[in-house]
Amino acid sequence: MKRMFATTLVLFSLIAPVLAVDMSAEIDAATAKIMPQVVQWRRYIHEHPELGNREVETAKLVAEHLRKLGIETRTGVAKTGVVGILKGAQPGPVIGLRADMDGLPVTERVDVPFKSTVKSEYNGQTVGVMHACGHDTHVAMLLGTATVLAGMKDKIKGTVVFIFQPAEEGAPAGETGGASDMVKEGVMDNPKIDAIFGIHINSATEIGTIKYKSGAEMAASDWFSIKIKGRQAHGAYPWQGIDPIAVATQIYTGLQMIVARQSELPKAPVIITVGRMSAGIRENIIPEEVTMAGTIRTLDSEMQNDVHEKIRRTATKIAESMGATAEVTIDRKTPVTYNDPALVKKMVPSLEKATGKGNVLEAEWVTGAEDFAFYGQKAPAFFFFVGGMPKGGNPKTVPSHHTPDFFIDDSRLDVGIKAFCNIVFDYK
Ligand code: NI
Repeated sequence: MKRMFATTLVLFSLIAPVLAVDMSAEIDAATAKIMPQVVQWRRYIHEHPELGNREVETAKLVAEHLRKLGIETRTGVAKTGVVGILKGAQPGPVIGLRADMDGLPVTERVDVPFKSTVKSEYNGQTVGVMHACGHDTHVAMLLGTATVLAGMKDKIKGTVVFIFQPAEEGAPAGETGGASDMVKEGVMDNPKIDAIFGIHINSATEIGTIKYKSGAEMAASDWFSIKIKGRQAHGAYPWQGIDPIAVATQIYTGLQMIVARQSELPKAPVIITVGRMSAGIRENIIPEEVTMAGTIRTLDSEMQNDVHEKIRRTATKIAESMGATAEVTIDRKTPVTYNDPALVKKMVPSLEKATGKGNVLEAEWVTGAEDFAFYGQKAPAFFFFVGGMPKGGNPKTVPSHHTPDFFIDDSRLDVGIKAFCNIVFDYK
């Protein structure tokens, strides 16, 4: 038994170097060297956040650094996007790595030396601007990755495309933007990307940890609007009119019945949220019209279509039963973020090299949406989460993304850089 083990060991040590060149030690060393600069970038970008489609200074910082590294750089892609193309010494696959650059209309409340005090204009309102989703860390990690990989250019087989994308959170009213525009402008085609990877920092995942889900990972997000028309009447004589507020409350309940009673929830989650309702002008007037609008989250395209159909049916039939009419519009915003199972299986060992086997965990469904999904429609994709919660934090009580108290511990951004770099060398 013992001898057999020893023979196997000798055989393995002979074969292993032939099978693959493990670059992880070299990647670790180069990452450690660039980390102080990465943290500096992150904090600078955090202090100077820009809203979607307005990432002018951030894009300038990115482009300048990529050019300094000798990377072919395109600017002004889908408004403020920057694309860097690093050609390795030998031919091979084309790998896309993506970061988003936009901040949010949120006023920062976190007491850090690099707190944002930036104000801007958003849909006609003056707002505070904050990197309240951590996209500042994404830019910093991808810049760090570009630095490490540019230094190892001679050993790279293939091409790496660095994608710095604007407006992940959605473009301001009247504009388009984000991943779908980047795709439309050919970022996946020129050169043709074989596989694409993306990272999201997470405020409720402990630093040093990576989380991912194979298959559907993040929800499709669709927006809906229901316009209910009744007949105006005096508040004292409801029978003389058709009360659209009464209809709306029934429809509201009906929508939740689609979730609770008509959706196969063990298969995948469904969420219908009404986030906006407008009706009425005065206490004693039954209005003519009510508008209710909200978002639909699904993780399975069949269920997505089914829910859309049921929303239409529920709204129109309930309205009809009360003598009113309901007009339903559904706007497909972001598709399901789908991680290609074969690609995930192949690349998880690279993530484990970045942070240790026990620190790469399978995640649960995420009912948030991510426009990275659009890249996944063009090539096999893998989107994973890197921890930004301080050690010992409570994931149930830490401030969530998009809030004024959102906080990221930036001491372990190396995990994301190492993950990206190992992926580039391990992908075949
Ligand atoms: Ni985000």
